[in-house]
Amino acid sequence: MTFDQQKSLEDAYLMHTYGRKPVQLVSGRGMVVVDDAGKEYLDFVSGVGAVSLGHCHPAIVEALKKQAETLIHVSNYYYIEKRGEVAQMLSGLLSAALPEDEKIVWKTFFANTGAEANECAIKLARLHARRVAEAKGEQPARTIVTLKRSFHGRTLATLAATAQPVKQEAFQPLPGGFTSSPINDLEALTNLFEEMKGQICAVMVEPIQGECGVYPCSPEFLAGVRELCDANGALLIADEVQCGIFRTAKPFGFQHLGVTPDIVTIAKGVASGFPTGMCAARAEIADTYQPGDHGSTFGGSCLAVAAAHATLSTLVEGGFEARVEEVGAYMREKLAELPHVKEVRGYGLMLAAELDETAPAAGDVVAAGLDASLLLNTTGPTTLRFLPPLVCEKADVDALVEKLAVLLGA
Ligand SMILES: Cc1ncc(COP(=O)(O)O)c(C=O)c1O
Repeated sequence: MTFDQQKSLEDAYLMHTYGRKPVQLVSGRGMVVVDDAGKEYLDFVSGVGAVSLGHCHPAIVEALKKQAETLIHVSNYYYIEKRGEVAQMLSGLLSAALPEDEKIVWKTFFANTGAEANECAIKLARLHARRVAEAKGEQPARTIVTLKRSFHGRTLATLAATAQPVKQEAFQPLPGGFTSSPINDLEALTNLFEEMKGQICAVMVEPIQGECGVYPCSPEFLAGVRELCDANGALLIADEVQCGIFRTAKPFGFQHLGVTPDIVTIAKGVASGFPTGMCAARAEIADTYQPGDHGSTFGGSCLAVAAAHATLSTLVEGGFEARVEEVGAYMREKLAELPHVKEVRGYGLMLAAELDETAPAAGDVVAAGLDASLLLNTTGPTTLRFLPPLVCEKADVDALVEKLAVLLGA
């Protein structure tokens, strides 16, 4: 079907929740995707950070093909191959930055998306607080503090957690039990804990905020959040949906910041494009959940687990920590040299270039990028965000900056 035919069908029969770009993508390999007319594009979006190993990586294709021929789905009533291995790998990666004698066992719940992973974390934090309070004969803490401008998903609870009034407004009433505090402002959070004494059960942060334009928590701030949580019996939840799984070079974003959370949510790149979400928690907290407390029909399906297993094995064995570090540093340096770029933020291959007032609008750069064979993304009128597949090489960065220099003009 041609682009025009597909567009008219989608316009007629899909809900208009996305302003799609005028292109129909039909195939891909590595950093490259191809449209229906055979035109190739270098992809710096990677399905919003999901296609971590690049398009149609042989390890993923092979794992999915083999699994599809063997068993596609049963249910969480049964044990299946590789699910324990994936959870064990995650546990190791989550503890990777800790000294040998401080390593933690993490237990995972398998979901399908980032929002679902966060739902699992929110419920776990509430249930944990309730069990702790019951044991002491006290009222449970129920409120979860998130950071202003955060993004945690589009379900009602994760939208309530997403501290962006513009996204929330039309969908009121949202579930209660959430409040917010500014990123990197420890004093404000300290005051909030003071005001809400005994009511806060968790603080949920993106260690590196993604959707609002790549704003990292500072190590001092996150260390302070950890201390406040410990002092007040609250849990620290890290939403690693965007910044996790080697996106920032390290296995998880929080590992740049010297703090270990209690609950970590994961999705996007963990199965290299196959829909998968996970919520991992320190074992003693995870054990709060008992049969019947939470579930998902498709979470941790045979296909999802096969894709996650292949992705994590390839990332670990392929030396991606060093690769992403090197290419990310190169990209950062090259982006900073471009005209109209006044700041580059982020870690590894999760970067944003902030444009000055005289630059073309970021949306226009994205549109012109399509003509110039680039898939680009913006998080606001002056911000270009780059989330390429983690197989991105320096030559891809060179091709990007050469074209961007033209698009941005002198
Ligand atoms: C930090 C973060 N959390 C949660 C989500 C929601 O993930 P999903 O779209 O898979 O539900 C996103 C999506 O962009 C995200 O960036």
